[in-house]
Amino acid sequence: MSATPASSTSAPLDPALEAALVSLREARAAALLEFARIPSISALPEHAGDMVSAAEWIADSLRRLGATAVEVVKTNLHPIVYGKIHEAPGAPTALVYCHFDVQPVDPIDLWETAPFEPFLRDGRFVGRGVADDKGQLVMHLSALEALRAVGRAPAVNLTFVFEGEEEYGSDSLFSWIGPNRDRLAADVAVISDTTFFEGNVPAITVGLRGIMYAQIDVMLVPVDLHSGQYGGAVENPANALARIIASLKGPDGRVKIPGFYDDVVALTPEERAAMASLPFDLESFRNETEVSALVGEAGWTILESKTARPTLDVNGIWGGFQGDGAKTIIPAHAHAKLSTRLVAKQEPAKIFAALRDYVEQVAPPGVTITTTYIHGGEASLTPMDHPATQAAVRALRAVYGVEPVFIREGGSIPVTAAFDQVLGLPVVLLGFPQPNCNAHAPNEWLSEANFESGTRTIARFWDELAAMRR
Ligand code: BES
Ligand code: MN
Ligand code: MN
Repeated sequence: MSATPASSTSAPLDPALEAALVSLREARAAALLEFARIPSISALPEHAGDMVSAAEWIADSLRRLGATAVEVVKTNLHPIVYGKIHEAPGAPTALVYCHFDVQPVDPIDLWETAPFEPFLRDGRFVGRGVADDKGQLVMHLSALEALRAVGRAPAVNLTFVFEGEEEYGSDSLFSWIGPNRDRLAADVAVISDTTFFEGNVPAITVGLRGIMYAQIDVMLVPVDLHSGQYGGAVENPANALARIIASLKGPDGRVKIPGFYDDVVALTPEERAAMASLPFDLESFRNETEVSALVGEAGWTILESKTARPTLDVNGIWGGFQGDGAKTIIPAHAHAKLSTRLVAKQEPAKIFAALRDYVEQVAPPGVTITTTYIHGGEASLTPMDHPATQAAVRALRAVYGVEPVFIREGGSIPVTAAFDQVLGLPVVLLGFPQPNCNAHAPNEWLSEANFESGTRTIARFWDELAAMRR
């Protein structure tokens, strides 16, 4: 592990700012711990009040840091937090995005401590959201706090948009962006919701996959049937669902939905070579993942398969008898949730239509199939030579003393494509946790070293962006 230590080398920041950062260290750790105590789980209706508390917590912090136009925006679901610090006339404006919602905590028994009683021990913050994405949001606030402590304003203008539905499809933000285009005007969007590369290598993410999430419901009759009396004479919805799922993807990892690959932008030989040269150790990745074998798409490396190629996975499957022992029934119905991860230029709506049509085509007679769209978002790709991306390279280089790598991530941040398409902004994906941070899993963690160096990188990045030629 930790091939590249996350420690700073030659002074990346002016001495006064560094001194302020040193003296504020405990305060910013305490801020993250306080923020992470709020159980802001966007998917669970009983946490709606916590979503508001988390939004208010951020808004209060922004006001304390001298932000103006601070607002907790009500939406159909969870709030959006808006604010700005525009104190650098003539300098570029960055739209800063992080999310304050977190994933549910189950399976709760696998947590070593309570997920919303976060702590800092042995150099690690542990708790739900400390990496994804509250820790990164607090890094942004912490960089500002240190600047204020030395009487400085950020060298660029900052507009903040913090959302509460990232883990739930971003519907509210999608509908808010268009009408608020003017308040979001900027030169670049900066999203801190990605990670470093394997081995804690400083990285800038230049590609994210899109997503199309759907549910398949297979219905036979309203209530279960005796499998002795009816078995052999009716279609079994669980069997039917199994056949449908089996027809979606082959053992070679290829998705079999007709047209699925039609809009995929091919990786260039140069892109493949660049990916092949990344310090990716297959065996340590396998080992850390605790799987017995890695299975990619035929013709592509594992790294390509998990970050730059589209795929399809069943996320959950249920139906029929699941208790101890045996119960002889034909289940009344069976269900599956599945998601496809998409790459540029695949469109979620088009992929959904192709899935629905294909499911209908392969479905056996005698059952009723419904395929429902749950949410979707497009993939994104950022040009590496954009001046804002290069400014991020310089900031990382200054803080870590190594050349950052450009990586693609297999996860999705749906709003990235909207910043590009609706607001016309280049997007810099600058995130700091280690990739094995247990995001979405029990015992999520963030190393304090990355929290510290990430905060410094953000502070340095504003200086580098100010120097960016537009
Ligand atoms: N921070 C992640 C996205 C991510 C994951 C970036 C891995 C880089 C590496 C984000 O919070 C997330 O989990 N997104 C969801 C999106 C979905 C709910 C629409 C995802 O990828 O599953
Ligand atoms: Mn996230
Ligand atoms: Mn997430």
